[in-house]
Amino acid sequence: MNTGKPFRIGVLGSGKGSNFVAIADAIAAGKTPAEVVLVVSDVEGAGILDHARQRNLPARFIAPGKFRTKLDEDAESAYVTALEDAKVDLIVLAGFMRVLKGDFLRAFEGRIVNVHPSLLPSFPGLEAWKQALDHGVKATGCTVHFVDAGVDSGAIIGQQTVPVLDDDTAATLHARIHAAEHDLYPKCVAMIARGEIVVQGRRVIRKS
Ligand code: GAR
Repeated sequence: MNTGKPFRIGVLGSGKGSNFVAIADAIAAGKTPAEVVLVVSDVEGAGILDHARQRNLPARFIAPGKFRTKLDEDAESAYVTALEDAKVDLIVLAGFMRVLKGDFLRAFEGRIVNVHPSLLPSFPGLEAWKQALDHGVKATGCTVHFVDAGVDSGAIIGQQTVPVLDDDTAATLHARIHAAEHDLYPKCVAMIARGEIVVQGRRVIRKS
């Protein structure tokens, strides 16, 4: 974008919100030129909402409706309205554990990013660190990508690798991947906020 106006991000999360904290800290440190204008969770007691409130940022629980893995129609419309009212330039999924569909994707096409705890396209879906451990790979990592209609399938913005160690458990491997996410995600959001990247088909490349 880089229009001189603050770059407005809305953050969606379901969990403890450590990626949100990493991004908020990077913004506060002047490393990511953006402003968090809204944090929304589908989980009423989610840590991400506490972190947002501690930073005096607008934070809302919006009930997800009757389904377990996606938003129902009313919820989808409530999410879209809240994010449109907040005039977001980009939606940052930070551990949001529901698949976004139809109207939501259409409302924010090309403006939704996600972090996933594996080197996509390996291990999409749930508990990707556990999938990596079970498969026996020697390296895994994290991926920041644009969100499309598939599951963890959109164009890849950035990736960071981490080793899988012989004595790793699911918890130790996830912790190492989390640390890589906290480094990578704010950098990727910064590249988008500065208007430094362009999407060409499946490839996300730096503007020359
Ligand atoms: C992160 O590891 C993120 O990659 C994962 O949830 C965690 C959220 O942690 N997301 C997914 O698995 C999405 N498919 P956080 O709440 O501490 O940021």
